[in-house]
Amino acid sequence: MKFFIDTANLAQIKEAQELGVLDGVTTNPSLMAKEGITGRNNILKHYVDICNIVDGDVSAEVISTDFKGMIKEGEELAELHEQIVVKVPMIKDGIKAIKYFTDKGIRTNCTLVFSCGQALLAAKAGAAYVSPFIGRLDDISTDGLNLISEIRHIYDNYEFETQILAASVRHTMHVIDCAKIGADVMTGPLSAIEGLLKHPLTDSGLAKFLEDYQKGN
Ligand code: E4P
Repeated sequence: MKFFIDTANLAQIKEAQELGVLDGVTTNPSLMAKEGITGRNNILKHYVDICNIVDGDVSAEVISTDFKGMIKEGEELAELHEQIVVKVPMIKDGIKAIKYFTDKGIRTNCTLVFSCGQALLAAKAGAAYVSPFIGRLDDISTDGLNLISEIRHIYDNYEFETQILAASVRHTMHVIDCAKIGADVMTGPLSAIEGLLKHPLTDSGLAKFLEDYQKGN
């Protein structure tokens, strides 16, 4: 399972990269705005900065919602760095754009996916990644993890190569559950990754080992 970090914060990306388990980064316009990155040129530069920190795919989202606009923006984003994956929303023109990019060898991440039907369309169009937002489904009392299971089942039926990128991961149990179900990738906050480290028996066991070592020396 690949671990992506879902942020545009360079310090957090560096920290995750230094942990040695980071496979990529996802961003979105809200995450860029949260870091105060505004204006086209600053945003493009920020994507390059992220690519220079991480070894792996970096999702950069288009803002346009029409086919022509998405193509223009996506081609510009893809030119920035070989690690860029163009993030395209799950709308009709988005599917057309994903097909266009696929035919041109530009990799895409189909974002804002909330149903199996949408995931099926993204795979048919050739998306490299499909991003079901599990946390946002949980927020409205719908089982986000169940959607991951169903998409896994459908993709395995037809051996689609599109990778299931569990997005809107909010906490450590989401990560573990996605791994059990067989999501190819998860993207979440650094805290969800670091939560995997924690166990009280590890802490107390280590404290005892160190205490016993001190007694013998
Ligand atoms: C996915 O690529 C999105 O950036 C992200 O996971 C959305 O998460 P949120 O629902 O926590 O905003």
